[in-house]
Amino acid sequence: MAHDSQEKQKYATAAADLLCSQFGPGSPNGFVSVPGRINLIGEHIDYHGLPVLPMALQRRVNIAFRARSDGQVRAISGCYGERQFSLCPDPQPGPPGDWSNYLKAAMQAVATRWKLTIGLDAAIVSDLPPAAGLSSSSALLVAFTLALLETNGFRPTVAELMDILPDGEQFVGTRGGGMDHAAVLACQSGCALRIQFDPLDLSAIPIPSGWSFLVAHSLTTAEKSGAVNAEYNARRTAGISGLQKLGLSSYREAIDRRSLGELTAFAGRLPDLESRSFLHVVTEAFRVQECLRALRREDIRDFGRLLTASHASLRDQLLVSHPSLDELVQSALDAGALGARLTGAGFGGCAIILSHMEDRDRLRGELANRYYARRSGFDPERHLFFAAPSAGALRA
Ligand code: GLA
Repeated sequence: MAHDSQEKQKYATAAADLLCSQFGPGSPNGFVSVPGRINLIGEHIDYHGLPVLPMALQRRVNIAFRARSDGQVRAISGCYGERQFSLCPDPQPGPPGDWSNYLKAAMQAVATRWKLTIGLDAAIVSDLPPAAGLSSSSALLVAFTLALLETNGFRPTVAELMDILPDGEQFVGTRGGGMDHAAVLACQSGCALRIQFDPLDLSAIPIPSGWSFLVAHSLTTAEKSGAVNAEYNARRTAGISGLQKLGLSSYREAIDRRSLGELTAFAGRLPDLESRSFLHVVTEAFRVQECLRALRREDIRDFGRLLTASHASLRDQLLVSHPSLDELVQSALDAGALGARLTGAGFGGCAIILSHMEDRDRLRGELANRYYARRSGFDPERHLFFAAPSAGALRA
């Protein structure tokens, strides 16, 4: 934990320095630090209202900020340059994929509930790889939301934030669920977070100290804009239309009332795309339940088996994997990992790889040889790191 606070201090200083160098001298009024996340299990099911199990990372989006009295917002990112716009409840989006859209999404989401009158200068420093399935964009959205609210004197609860944030991402074109926002706000150190929706229910699930999750980038990025957004939204639409064609009212009710065998048989009545989506959603929901039981028993082998099964379903049923992710997962398994799968929306980005703590360095070394040695652009520090179960932005 001492290491965590040292890291935070390092980024607070870097963000404060960037604020001064870009916008002139003076101390920041505030600092927010929002982690990325991996999702352990429960992929592409949060938007159907089903429980998921993410875990916050030690890598974070950090913002130092200070108030402005002229209603302007200026923001500088260490990587993407400066943007400026006026405080307003209904902003015009910038070009698709532009990072300022996440700031505007935050402003619009906040304005649905709180009245913003004070603008800000903000400096953003992050060590979270972008477009990697680690929720860097949601972390930015959440961090800027918190900065705007704090500047204007509001201290929202997690529940209040969860009422506005998931829909807020529609501004950037994603019709996502609430997993990322809940995880980056409310995870507890040393734990994963079981998230149930409608009503929101969050419970911290300790990760056994002997388990290690390695985060490995496939080196294929998955920009959460344009084509990936359209593919992502199409999975949601197919899942909903499959449910409707079967005359079922919700996935939750279906899973509570029917066996996996019955639901698998139902999938056979649907056209191809809906059938695959339905099958992924119901099997993944059962895998979440099994993973929770495996965690309680500290059964790492069963947990790993379920991770790998999840990857197969994302690859073969939902079709959201990528050949490089499949190769990465296979390399990890060949190197002796107990389970591996893509994490986040897919289409590129990262895989998570499970092993016993004592095997993790060997596994990391083997992966560097088996997967990365043949590829260019590999940066070991950025693309291959161990996940430390960390605290969300509103938790210690
Ligand atoms: C993205 C979305 C989440 C979730 C995952 C897939 O990260 O933001 O809401 O749907 O994809 O599980």
